[in-house]
Order: sequence, then structure tokens, then C-alpha cells
Amino acid sequence: MSRPLRVAALISGTGSNLGVLLEARAAGRLDLDVVEVISNRGAAPGLERARAHGVHTTVIDADKAGAEGQDAAIHRRLEAVEPDLVLLTGYMRILGADLVNAWRGRMVNQHPSLLPKYKGLNTHRRALEAGDREHGASLHFVTPELDGGPVIAQVRVPIRPADDPDRLAARLGPREHDLLLAVMDLFTARRLAMTDAGVMLDGRLLDRPLQLVDDAWENEA
Ligand code: GRF
Repeated sequence: MSRPLRVAALISGTGSNLGVLLEARAAGRLDLDVVEVISNRGAAPGLERARAHGVHTTVIDADKAGAEGQDAAIHRRLEAVEPDLVLLTGYMRILGADLVNAWRGRMVNQHPSLLPKYKGLNTHRRALEAGDREHGASLHFVTPELDGGPVIAQVRVPIRPADDPDRLAARLGPREHDLLLAVMDLFTARRLAMTDAGVMLDGRLLDRPLQLVDDAWENEA
């Protein structure tokens, strides 16, 4: 048996995804330890969730530290806690290439769109404005290109005629939580890796992101 996966999470806000992870861990459903939560905002509600689960938290105010100061402080803190995986879950600041490259293959990001569509902000509104019939969320390895790293897995939701960004977000949110739990399950089993060619699952290159349908992977080998 391998030891629990050590996860460090970066957040900026609500931290509902972090909360779902912490609860799954507490219920014994995921073999991981959240060893650190870093936020750029001291007021991020997600920090309280972390503390309620006894997780150490650090605030690194990027506005004060500047972009390079932010990256250096995050890197120092990550080195101190030695995570196997760094999870960007609602972290709303851009990280520099040096930091991202230092954690290459060990840093993943959640993004609320079906990447490569709608990198960046306002994804729900953009999907609606484009007249899309479906929307979704992705989980991807982080590379220096914003929201551009190899996509591990996605989940899809329908777009309905009466949707506005809030309604669509409310439909997607719980499925994004499911996606996070399902991907973290693969990480705890050490089944995922990133290579220059893309995402490897069980040592085989994925030719497209895993798709979570209901509660199972549609295209897991
Ligand atoms: C998620 O939709 C994630 O994809 C995006 O920010 C949101 C975080 O939500 N990057 P929460 O803070 O976990 O509630």
C-alpha cells in the first residue's frame, strides 16, 4: 500500500470544491491528506473550511507581494510541505512560468468550461452567448499557457433555453465537484501522469480527455 497522496490546494474564494474534497477525505472515501491550503485572500471562505478540518492555511497576498513575490512565496511554502499534487481550485491569480515549471506534472487546475473552449474568465456567459447546447468543466495539468495544459478529464451538462449564467453555474457546480472527486481518486491510485506527449492513464496515452458520465468514466480503458 502506498501512503496517502499529499495534496496542497490554492484557492481564492468559496472553496466549495475544496470542501467536497475535505469531506470525502474525512469520510474515508479518498486516500489523501490535504497538507496545506494557500489563498491570496485572507477573507476567502474556503480558508475556514480548511481550518475546520484541521488543515494548515497560509495567506499570500499577491497584491502586496507582486507577481514574482507571490510565486516565490508559494514555491517556498510548497517546498516546505512537499505535496505530491498541487491543486488549483478556484485560484484566481496567474502563476508565473518558473513556478509552474517547477511543479510540472504535479500541478492541476479546475476550469469551468469544456477546454480548449473558453479559457480565462466568464465561461458560463461565453458559452451562452455562443449558443452552445452544452457546457462543462475540465481538470487539466498546468503548463505556463493559461488554461492550456493537457486536459485529464471533463464533465458535461446541457444548456437549456431559459439559462442565464447563474442557472448554468448552479447546474454545473455539483458536477464539477463530482469530476474533482473522480479525478482525485485516479491520482490517489497513482494512475495519472503527464508526459510531453500528454496525459497518461495506467501508462497509456489518452487520445482524448476522460469523460465523466453519471458516476463512471465513459472512455476509461
Ligand atoms: C470552479 O468553478 C473552478 O472551476 C473555478 O473556480 C470555481 C471554484 O469554485 N476555477 P469554489 O471556490 O470551489 O466554490
